[in-house]
Amino acid sequence: MKRYYITTPIYYVNSVPHIGTALTTIVADACARYQKRRGRAVYFLTGTDENAPKVHRVAQEKGIPTQQFVDEMAEVFENTWRALHIEYDVFMRTTEERHKRTATEVFRRLRQQGDIYEGRYEGWYCVSCETFFALNKVGDERTCPDCGKPLEYRDEPCYYFRLSTYTERLRDHILSHPHFIEPEVRRNETLGFMAEGLQDVAVSRSGTDWGIPVPDDSSGAVIYVWFDALLNYLTATDWLDRGDTYLDTWPPDLQLMGKDILPRFHATIWPAMLMALGLPLPERLYGHGWWIVNKQKMSKSLGNVYAPLEVVQTLSENAGCEMPYAVDAFRYYMLREMPTDSDAEFSLQGFETRYNGDLANDLGNLVHRTLSMLHRYFGGRVPEGARIDDTLAHLFVQQATRTAEAYEAVDFPRGLSEAWAIISAVNRYYDEQAPWTLHKQGETQRAGQVLYTGLEAVRILSVLVEPAMPQVAREIARLLNLESVPDWNATHQVGVLAMEHPLQEPKPIFPRLQAKPNAPVVQEPAQPQPEPKQAPSDALITLEQFQRLKIRVATVRSAEPIPNTQKLLKLTVDLGDERRTIVAGIAETYSPEALVGRQVLVLVNLQPATLRGVVSEGMLLAADVEGKAILLNPDQSVPNGACVR
Ligand code: MSP
Repeated sequence: MKRYYITTPIYYVNSVPHIGTALTTIVADACARYQKRRGRAVYFLTGTDENAPKVHRVAQEKGIPTQQFVDEMAEVFENTWRALHIEYDVFMRTTEERHKRTATEVFRRLRQQGDIYEGRYEGWYCVSCETFFALNKVGDERTCPDCGKPLEYRDEPCYYFRLSTYTERLRDHILSHPHFIEPEVRRNETLGFMAEGLQDVAVSRSGTDWGIPVPDDSSGAVIYVWFDALLNYLTATDWLDRGDTYLDTWPPDLQLMGKDILPRFHATIWPAMLMALGLPLPERLYGHGWWIVNKQKMSKSLGNVYAPLEVVQTLSENAGCEMPYAVDAFRYYMLREMPTDSDAEFSLQGFETRYNGDLANDLGNLVHRTLSMLHRYFGGRVPEGARIDDTLAHLFVQQATRTAEAYEAVDFPRGLSEAWAIISAVNRYYDEQAPWTLHKQGETQRAGQVLYTGLEAVRILSVLVEPAMPQVAREIARLLNLESVPDWNATHQVGVLAMEHPLQEPKPIFPRLQAKPNAPVVQEPAQPQPEPKQAPSDALITLEQFQRLKIRVATVRSAEPIPNTQKLLKLTVDLGDERRTIVAGIAETYSPEALVGRQVLVLVNLQPATLRGVVSEGMLLAADVEGKAILLNPDQSVPNGACVR
């Protein structure tokens, strides 16, 4: 059976991994895990690009022998990917002997058949991008059209690859294979890039002794690093040595990369090289957008380059407690906010918001309260005679199918939000059915049915989240007392957990991050205030005074008692565009479970106050009935954040 072959680019080893390279690698890992769950044999390649002159230069600047430098840096990459739970099958390094053999042999063959010819290069060169540029692309400033750095003038003999002759064949291939380049925007970019025809590319470099020597050449030229690097995908299949059996892996099913290296390199030079070799082309090239930080490109000079493991570390530090699934949380954020068509903003604050909202309040809370109630009401076993609610069963299967479609299309933001629709539906369902009340009123069977429906959702979710959060998926499976995370087929079956099946004691998966008071660190010096005129309590207020109260609709996402108090609950409410922590004196009237999913009215422009060590960022509106707080809520479901007038 043909293996499903997935690749990331191989990364230059002159700098350490950052959130950009981590993005492609995590996306590839999630795709690989998804395909494995679907029962396919997967071959997943990542690695390092080590032959670039700039790698050599950095090693020299550091005063380290280049081979030692690339060995050390390749280890940094491998360690980072392992720490992020990337399960690759092969880590390709282009300084490996087997790769040098592939590149040398391909160069020789193409030269023999006339696809590579000797010429001369006279013009502008970007040392950083390792690329020559035609005069009409350079402009008067003589800066690189890709990276903006100053260009160098070069005049030297070199070898060319006859890319121009493949323009028409390539265009035909792109037009007749709609999934060859994805997403659509990249396909169009590539066709635009090709519109004026492709020019032959210089595939050798002089003036450096680091790289793979051009075969049968006495001038000391080395093979252009991109020409060698692209061939790593072929090396990893042992194409040179395996006769036709390399076809158990070739061609790649999915080649992932950032948008910058798609049109020029992966979508033109690369397939043209394969055409010249007479080899099948990759099935799909996918180019994602870029992370930007504060609306700017990440760059060392701006000091806004984030290292993935530091981001993970920051989350754990801000939690102020043990955070066993911080890596999975980071993977989730990368995938949930993944830039697909366009670029996307990366921020630590955005990460924490997703963490508190999607992971702690939504997924973590659903798992925890479902298991807690089953333990409290049914002795920690699947209730006897419980059946899944048909309407929800239908929705679970439908959402699982939609999640799969999106994962297949490498659209993780959509896929994860389709999966999260199950969580919202179950939270709404708990809210409507109130299993805590059913249990209290002795309607045990019905309570069991509601909780069994929630439990089945949790089982299905363990499969749906696995590509993004493999360790969390395993933990959910453990809590459900399953030997391992079920296969994808399990998402199309309902009512799987058998009666009396014992469940593990619930244990929170995602501890909530501590609420940080949003008061400024440095307080303005207090100004003497005029004595306020005391208004009688029943004095009328003006409309303008009323309008200064900002009251908005919100949904309670989590609720928990505050230790050592009878009255107070700590709530997280969702105001549509933000979430807030609110301390409310309603514990005597409402149990925490009864509140989650319910809509409430919140006074949002009240000064924050600290109650029992928790900062409350607003107040719930409630009717006072003989000292008890009865919550007010909208007459029908309305969007969170709606203003009350
Ligand atoms: N060595 C080449 C690839 C050769 S593949 C045959 C290379 N290496 S790289 O180290 O520069 O890696 C770049 C990868 O990281 C690209 O896929 C690029 O798009 C991605 N990113 C670099 N910065 C990025 C962001 N800010 N955001 C997302 N991805 C970004 O190119």
